[in-house]
Amino acid sequence: MNAFDLKGKTVLVTGASSGLGRQTAITASEYGARVIVTGRNTIRLQETFGSLQGEGHQQIPADLTIQADIDRLVEALPMLDGLVQSTGISELAPARFITAETISRTFRISFDASVLLTARILAKKKLSKGNSSIVFISSISTRYPFVGGAMYISAKAALEAYARVLALELASRGTRVNCIAPAFVRTPMLNETAENFSQEAVNKIEERQLLGLGDPVDVANTIIFYLSDASKWVSATNLILGGG
Ligand SMILES: NC(=O)c1ccc[n+]([C@@H]2O[C@H](COP(=O)([O-])OP(=O)(O)OC[C@H]3O[C@@H](n4cnc5c(N)ncnc54)[C@H](OP(=O)(O)O)[C@@H]3O)[C@@H](O)[C@H]2O)c1
Repeated sequence: MNAFDLKGKTVLVTGASSGLGRQTAITASEYGARVIVTGRNTIRLQETFGSLQGEGHQQIPADLTIQADIDRLVEALPMLDGLVQSTGISELAPARFITAETISRTFRISFDASVLLTARILAKKKLSKGNSSIVFISSISTRYPFVGGAMYISAKAALEAYARVLALELASRGTRVNCIAPAFVRTPMLNETAENFSQEAVNKIEERQLLGLGDPVDVANTIIFYLSDASKWVSATNLILGGG
């Protein structure tokens, strides 16, 4: 068995009905993990579920902005070795148009959902002690912001701060906590960016990223490292995946 192998590990992936979460779930299954996938859209979640390699996987639809859904999801979970949190929305708003509703809509899914799901999983003792891993997906935009991204980026910055504290709190039980901060990757979220701005804006982003736009599998492979024993001495990091 090599250190990147996920055989014998059980991993929950949120946001698994699309984009980075979907690819992470598929790649984790290819590395031998038993994968639990969750998302809101049951049709797309089923598509992900149908693409998983191996056996023993589960799909549990849930809206993670609803506490009752979080509770139901956690209740149905087996003991986990890994937790990948890939939910998010990319709603953009220039500073003068930000309202209380804009703030809460973005934070509820991009921050609160991850924090509350983690709290419930820990409280219900569903994350194994000794050698487990939590991975949050932040964004390179916390270092390199873009116009209109105030709420998205603030929520991600809050998530990064939360992850650092969590890494401190969980180290003694053998749980690693890391963030990854990708630059732009080809997912439905990027298509939304193209619609909100223009294809030209996306082309400019691509030019700025030394290795061009990323593919979901580039992010998924990095997450495999964090879930696997290859990263057993790695915690409290925030890895920028910027394509150079
Ligand atoms: N794509 C990029 O270029 C990029 C770059 C940096 C960081 N990121 C971050 O990476 C993460 C994944 O992005 P992506 O590109 O994969 O986006 P995506 O394709 O739009 O997927 C977002 C996922 O979040 C889920 N989600 C949204 N609201 C939810 C809710 N209330 N309850 C449960 N699930 C919910 C969606 O589920 P449903 O569709 O089923 O509702 C979907 O599975 C996000 O945190 C994003 O900020 C992306």
